[in-house]
Formats: sequence, structure tokens, C-alpha cells
Amino acid sequence: MNLKGRDFLTLKDFSKDEIIYMIDLAAVLKEKKKNGELVDYHKGKNVALIFEKTSTRTRCSFEVAAHDLGMGTTYLDPSGSQIGNKESIADTARVLGRMFDGIEYRGFGQEIVEDLAKYADVPVWNGLTNEYHPTQMLADMLTIREKFGKLEGLKLVYMGDARYNMGNSLMIACSKLGLDFVACSSEKYFPSNELVEICRGYAKQSGATITLTTDAMEGTKDADVIYTDVWVSMGEPEQAWKERIDELMPYQVNKKVMDNAKDTAVFMHCLPAYHDLNTKVGRMVYEKFGISELEVTNEVFESAQSVVFDEAENRMHTIKAVMLATLGVPEGIM
Ligand code: CP
Ligand code: NVA
Repeated sequence: MNLKGRDFLTLKDFSKDEIIYMIDLAAVLKEKKKNGELVDYHKGKNVALIFEKTSTRTRCSFEVAAHDLGMGTTYLDPSGSQIGNKESIADTARVLGRMFDGIEYRGFGQEIVEDLAKYADVPVWNGLTNEYHPTQMLADMLTIREKFGKLEGLKLVYMGDARYNMGNSLMIACSKLGLDFVACSSEKYFPSNELVEICRGYAKQSGATITLTTDAMEGTKDADVIYTDVWVSMGEPEQAWKERIDELMPYQVNKKVMDNAKDTAVFMHCLPAYHDLNTKVGRMVYEKFGISELEVTNEVFESAQSVVFDEAENRMHTIKAVMLATLGVPEGIM
């Protein structure tokens, strides 16, 4: 397996074996980290981290992982660079490609990160776009494999806005890797027909199934993984909250949903999550609509079934694997 020089923009670009390879590599790197073994295989290199949207996990994962690999990092924040305002993506890519050995991009349309990759001669990694969140997928699949000892044949139910980055990406990851994927939401929030068709093609090869349902009880029955994400994503207008609450509340992950899944089911969320009033947005929604728990109840979030912090930790190990795989894996570590 050799992924050196590849961009990492969406899992659509990778085969099942390539995805499993990156998850395996992450598991090896996680073990090394726990044992205190150094992995500074890319000493002297530097990576640029462009964030046009805010981040805690992804930014910290890229920074810690890059430093563990021996590399330097430069963080470009949502307001601190010329990108998009005074300088095109094509020009930015050609400048950064001369200085850095890899570029991470988090921002808006997928076409922006595709453009960056087209014009930069170094690997470009997608740290989240409106359409996809592929580094999150590797962390999620590693976490699921750690919990269940396998991926194939498990039933993963995504509840909420299934037509955005998380729903899209989970459907791709599950259909490539052989997990049964269920989008459980009102029809308006189903992934696009076009993407569903593409994923049905992957599913045919992997043995996965794809189900779209508006019935929360039918959808979550006997699930192994119940997954959700915020109802209003970064970059969406605050006014969206009203319709999202009205339309997505039937798909809130609560005790009833978890009780309907298998006894062994886990709860997952890419985070950040609105499960209490300890956030500014959570309080704003409460003041306007009188609802204190949104996509997931605090009870489920804090329950023994919740694996959200294992998932968050795995962001770092899997992002390290993506950078290592695309910058070059030294002989003999796999
Ligand atoms: N899950 C995730 O991408 O988190 P951040 O927005 O904090 O990076
Ligand atoms: N759908 C969310 C994911 C955050 C990790 C967003 O785009 O804001």
C-alpha cells in the first residue's frame, strides 16, 4: 500500500483497502503514543493549517500530530490571511505549495479544497467542508472497531441533518466498509439522490445496505451505533434554528432511542454537541425556544453508552495516520 503524494479530500477517492490501511496505521500510531515511542519521521518538514471555520478537535489534532511527526505548523485563522478576499485559492495554493510539505484546509465548499489540491504540488487534507468531513470518518471507524472488534455487518444510524458533511461522509464510509447505514430524519434532510446512488454502488461491493427512513423507531431498531451531529452547522444562519428544531426534534437522540437500539449499542457524535445549557448557543436557543437539549439529551451524552471522548481522542491518531500515509511511511512500521 502506498498513499504517498495523495490528497485526502473525501473518502470517495479511496478504496476500502486504502481506508482500512489508514485505520490500521492509526492504531499502530496510537499504540506507539501510549508507549511513549517517538514517531518523528518527518523532522524538518512543515505543514500549513488553514481554518476558514473555527475548530477545537481538528486543529489540535493536526497540530499535535504534526509535532509528534517532527514537523512544524503554521495556523492560518479565519480572519488572518488573504485567502479568498485578496488572493484566489489557486494563487494561495501555488504560494503555500512552495513553502510547505502539506496543507490542511477547513472551510466552505468542497470545490475550494479541490482547487487547493489542484494547484498545490503537496498533499492537501480536508479538515471539513460543507459536504464532507473525511478525517472524522477515520476516527469514527477506528472507534467503532475498537468497541466492536469489527466493522462489517454493524448497523449505524445517523439521526438529524443527514444531507450535510457528517451524514454524507458517514454514508460513504459505511457503504465502502460494509456497515449498514440508516439515515433517520425527515425527507428534506436525506442525503441527495445522487450521493445515495453513488453509495449504493459502493454498498453492492462491500455488502452494506443503505436505508432512508422517517420513522425514528423503525430506523433505530437493533442499531449498533446511534450517531448524531448539530442541527445547524458552522456557516449556516442563526435563523435556521427554528425550522431545524421543528423538523428535527422527532430525531433527537434520547433514552427512548437508545433503548430501542441493541443493549450493546454506543452513542457517537463528532462534537461539539448541544446537550445542556453550558454553551452560548445552547443558552441562546433556550432563551428563544425554551429547549435545553437539542440533538442529544444530556442523559445519553453522559451515559456509559456514549463513546464521544474516545472518538475525539482518535481524531489525533487518525489525522497523524493521514499525514504519515500521504507524506511517506517509513519501512517496517506496519
Ligand atoms: N469534530 C470536529 O471536527 O470538531 P472541531 O470542529 O472542534 O474541529
Ligand atoms: N456539521 C458540523 C460538523 C462539525 C464538526 C458543522 O459543519 O458545523
